[in-house]
Amino acid sequence: MTFPIAIEPNPAALAAAERAVLIEDPGFGRVFTDHMVTATWTEGKGWHSAKLGARKPFTLDPACAVLHYAQEIFEGLKAYRADDGSVTLFRPEQNARRMNESARRMAMPEIPEELFLAAIDALVKADDGWIPSGEGSLYLRPFMFASETFLGVKPASEFIFCVIASPAGSYFKGGRKAVSLWVSDHLNRAGPGGTGAAKCGGNYAASLMAQAEAYEHGCDQVVFLDAVEHRWVDELGGMNIFFVFDDGSVITPPLTGTILPGITRASILELVKKRGIAVTEQPYAIDQWQADAKSGKLREVFACGTAAVLTPIGQVKSHAGDWTIGNGDGGALTDEIKAELVGIQRGRVEGPAGWVRRV
Ligand code: PLP
Ligand code: COI
Repeated sequence: MTFPIAIEPNPAALAAAERAVLIEDPGFGRVFTDHMVTATWTEGKGWHSAKLGARKPFTLDPACAVLHYAQEIFEGLKAYRADDGSVTLFRPEQNARRMNESARRMAMPEIPEELFLAAIDALVKADDGWIPSGEGSLYLRPFMFASETFLGVKPASEFIFCVIASPAGSYFKGGRKAVSLWVSDHLNRAGPGGTGAAKCGGNYAASLMAQAEAYEHGCDQVVFLDAVEHRWVDELGGMNIFFVFDDGSVITPPLTGTILPGITRASILELVKKRGIAVTEQPYAIDQWQADAKSGKLREVFACGTAAVLTPIGQVKSHAGDWTIGNGDGGALTDEIKAELVGIQRGRVEGPAGWVRRV
């Protein structure tokens, strides 16, 4: 099935000179492009009315279901400007699949992969002038929410799918190299049987209080532990995590249903394996982390995700004490994998077949 997207260019799109000022140093998530794509799902009718038009506010009834029961999911991916001026996307079909896994968990309608990809292509083409060259990228945010006006608690009978775009630089303020983590040992993000593996807004709302604690302790991000024993490392508020040891081995927490199955995580697992490095998905305890950092057995730790790319973790603070990883400034494997991944994403380095889609 194909999904035609009606194209209505924004007559008030910004002039190139105004755009250039905005994308020079955009930070993350503050600057938005001229267009958006929307489509509606109605019970009994399915997806319809797909359209690319001017980016503008939604008009929502105060009883709109999402405002009350948070039936909402989203995705995050980036469009990159390759050196030859063309535009690349990194594994967007993986985002389409994960969006549908999130949809199933949240009792929302699935979006045909063709519609998801066509919406992204249409937006990237319309807002091509917003894709920074150099190290920046255009962050794409597909999302879907319950738009029915109804206060009964049930899956909604109407949903809106939308894609917006935002030129992006470094996720962490100041573009610092290594970041610090606060260990959340009593506030949980997700538990067994919950929504941790879905990319739903509620998970992020649940992470904010712990993230605020991280800031209070002078840390950049929070790292969550499992909700049962408060012992096993899960992930960060918006990133997965990898550990690199002195014997060259690498581990990352397994996908047990409480962490988001990151596309960056899956890609790094493949890239590390291809190097012949012993990499395993296995639980790692917070007390072991502290001991391994102190003994020097642990050499590097990095966070990974679309927004954060690969970001070294230098310092960890917790109620049980503080520790530094290596010299506190990242390490060689983190740098190498980051360079390889970024090279693939920007079409400079040949990656595994099918990872890069040219728009
Ligand atoms: N974990 C969480 C909670 C996230 O929000 C993200 C970002 O999307 C990730 C992990 C990394 O996922 P990905 O690599 O697909 O961006
Ligand atoms: C992403 O990396 O795409 C994320 O969603 C992380 C955060 C900005 C929510």
